[in-house]
Amino acid sequence: MPVADLLQEFESLLENLDTWNYQYYVLDQPTVPDAEYDRAMRRLIALESQYPQWQRADSPSQRVGGQPLTQFGQVTHDVPMLSLDNAFNDQDMQDFNRRLSDRLKEYAADLEFACEPKLDGIAVSLLYRGGTLQRGATRGDGTTGEDITQNVRTIRSIPLRLRGKGYPHLLEVRGEIYMPKAGFESLNNRARERGEKTFVNPRNAAAGSLRQLDSRVTAERPLEMCCYSVGLVEGGSLPDRQARVLERLQNWGFRINSESAVVRGIDACNEYYQLLSGRRDSLPYDIDGIVFKVNELELQKQLGFIARAPRWAIARKFPAQEEMTRLLDVEFQVGRTGVITPVARLEPVFVGGVTVSNATLHNRDEVDRLDVRIGDTVIVRRAGDVIPQVVSVVVDRRSPNSQAVSFPLRCPVCQSAVEREEGEAALRCMGGLVCAAQQKAAIKHFASRRAFNIEGLGEKLIEQLVDEGLVASVAELYTLSKEDLLTLDRVGEKSADNLLAALQKSKQTTLPRFIFALGIREVGEATALNLARHFGGWVTLSAASERQLLEVDDVGPIVADHLRQFFHSLSSLEVVKRLCDAGVNWPDIKRSPVQNQPLAGQTWVVTGKLVTLGRDDAKAHLQALGAKVAGSVSLKTACVVAGPGAGSKLVKANELGIDVVDEQSFLAFLLAEGIKV
Ligand code: IVH
Repeated sequence: MPVADLLQEFESLLENLDTWNYQYYVLDQPTVPDAEYDRAMRRLIALESQYPQWQRADSPSQRVGGQPLTQFGQVTHDVPMLSLDNAFNDQDMQDFNRRLSDRLKEYAADLEFACEPKLDGIAVSLLYRGGTLQRGATRGDGTTGEDITQNVRTIRSIPLRLRGKGYPHLLEVRGEIYMPKAGFESLNNRARERGEKTFVNPRNAAAGSLRQLDSRVTAERPLEMCCYSVGLVEGGSLPDRQARVLERLQNWGFRINSESAVVRGIDACNEYYQLLSGRRDSLPYDIDGIVFKVNELELQKQLGFIARAPRWAIARKFPAQEEMTRLLDVEFQVGRTGVITPVARLEPVFVGGVTVSNATLHNRDEVDRLDVRIGDTVIVRRAGDVIPQVVSVVVDRRSPNSQAVSFPLRCPVCQSAVEREEGEAALRCMGGLVCAAQQKAAIKHFASRRAFNIEGLGEKLIEQLVDEGLVASVAELYTLSKEDLLTLDRVGEKSADNLLAALQKSKQTTLPRFIFALGIREVGEATALNLARHFGGWVTLSAASERQLLEVDDVGPIVADHLRQFFHSLSSLEVVKRLCDAGVNWPDIKRSPVQNQPLAGQTWVVTGKLVTLGRDDAKAHLQALGAKVAGSVSLKTACVVAGPGAGSKLVKANELGIDVVDEQSFLAFLLAEGIKV
């Protein structure tokens, strides 16, 4: 091919890759398959190595990092990088509003605010001269920061060259570099696999990645940048409103936050805060609050600054999700299947909106990984509805009296032997149904809403029944008499009658509930449903061979093995027999497998918060009805189940014209399919 043609190909590769990058990293709207992108990139790199004179500093191939530095240079910010005042409640917001009214007088009525999620990352400044990235710097103390140009060049959402036209000759863009949650998880997973140290949270991971002297390391880290303001601007002008400035920046190639909005008045700011705080956990990145800015730049100018913060903006912070406290002790809990879980007893601490005094430590591997000792100062995290976790130890504050955690050699409840099964992280009490803790947990599971749904049989009552020796297995529940119940604390005539009636009522059940209620290892609600539908009745199920079990959806060798063990255990079969003798019964299922799968061949997506069902159960039901459940919306999606707080997936579904149902309609649909929840 003549060189002129190659050069033309080269130019169009550059342009295509640049556009695809922008669509992918800035707009979050990929337009070409990864394979095509990769092919173009390989071709570009091939041409650049054949004709090195063509290679430009802003080529999309130049994102891989360069020679390591010995230290970072210093950068002076001509326009200082300031911080923000904080607000913690509605009152602080009202005070902020009053300060604005006092200064702006009549202009303060119906004031427009730009609302922007406050990303939890590292503030940086990017300087463009003539549209080319010249310098990237950290905020430092606001006046002097570090030169991290080599590192920022590796971040794909940062343009090396501005797109379009009309940008100022000198343009300093500011924003936050952060690590999305998913990238953070996979980075930590990789570190764990290699036995390396993990990062405590996405913010630390982002900071650590930017602080690398070797930019090739930074290039491997999943960092993004989102822009929120400008600093130095010379030789050109910008729109007159904050939100418009951001739109303009987006056109020039910068990523901006898609949750940002413009509202009128402080009450609307508070509503926005509430709305986003409900969606906080489902956002793909960490935010620690919302920034509210007076939208009109002219008014911003009038308001000016005090000390190190502008008068025209405020950051309303969410309650912290991480706090420091002390580990008082570690106790061991025995679960339904005998798994022994270490639980941290903590000095109570207010975190994530509640007081936390216990947190799980998962298992021995986790205790080793954290190197946590009794008496240590620890960082506790509670995000949303997630159970509290100990995320790290503040080693600097370790006292010489701290004590290593010692794991029990015998079950703390029944003194049976403890074993660690091959390939498993968990310790397990081998006492089985002899262990009171396992008895209690098994009964609790059996009585729970999704299983036998025995109203009034709660945790406290189960504790007493087992401790008093009245019940040791679920089969004995149906032999309880009124006199038995009346011997218990806080059980009177009426509650005894109610409980007996509830027990009586629970005898009429369904096969899926029965299978689920037995608490066979790894057999959750969805698997129980699949088993019931596949075999139709208990007798065929209990006689099934391993091969037959493996034919059931979602049943792999491990589940099949647990089922087989259950059906070969005399004590388990005895429990089943006694339940049936007591009158427990269910109708057999006679529908054919095809009719059972009304959603076969369809792909569904579940998003947002499902109040009654929970997302996991919703997915399990969908799968049982034959649907595939996917993590993202595409043209192939048949329907989206969306609860409150649904975000980008819902938006996409609406854009693509895909059916969306709320939880209420979904429950009605399940009911129509014979699934009671
Ligand atoms: S505006 C003068 N907007 O919060 C205005 N800051 O406490 C200064 N931040 O150092 C910043 N998201 O790192 C602004 N949308 C946003 C922000 C934001 C996060 C961080 C930024 C800054 C700190 C101020």
